Amino acid sequence: MTATTFSVAAGSGMAIMARMETLIPAERIAGRVVELAGQIERDHHGKPVMVVGVLTGCLVFLADLVRRIDLPLQIHLVQASSYRGEATTPGQLKLRLDTLPDLRGRDVLVIDDILDTGQTLARLAEELRLRGAASIRVAVLLRKEGRQQVVFEPDYVGFVIPDAFVVGYGLDYNDEFRHLPHLAVLSPPVG
Ligand code: IMP
Ligand code: MG
Repeated sequence: MTATTFSVAAGSGMAIMARMETLIPAERIAGRVVELAGQIERDHHGKPVMVVGVLTGCLVFLADLVRRIDLPLQIHLVQASSYRGEATTPGQLKLRLDTLPDLRGRDVLVIDDILDTGQTLARLAEELRLRGAASIRVAVLLRKEGRQQVVFEPDYVGFVIPDAFVVGYGLDYNDEFRHLPHLAVLSPPVG
């Protein structure tokens, strides 16, 4: 496991020290993405899939996953935000769904980065159901253990992880670190 200590520029302009340790290396993520794509393909029996990606965290996972799915497929993106700025605890959930086309009768595959409290995906799935989707399946790269506050079961889970704040492969802290090719645990400021 590699550990790096570095400084992060916080919104206030102050630099804080943070520690980052690799949790899941890029190669392991790539292997798991192939497995998930296989499961998704088998479950859809050649039928078209309408992917709904949840911005911004989904973007790296979505890009890798969809390229492994051999089905007729459309990609649409919606916006959800619950972490405000530097906070690492959930705030008010905001969903922006105005980019979605008519979902009536469509088989929807929601793709998101992580299931934490479950609020985002539970609410999004309910909204999609109300819009008449024929089926709604949900794929998340990560599921955080011991954090869920609502009853919600994703159909595809890449990795179950401990209750830690993670960045990389799409996940951010204060909009940084999404571009890391691996997943890392970001520890609280140490100085
Ligand atoms: P939920 O509604 O509490 O399940 O939160 C889901 C959203 O919170 C995810 O889509 C992420 O954007 C964000 N989130 C939750 N845990 C983490 C984390 O450890 N690192 C980065 N973002 C996180
Ligand atoms: Mg998100």
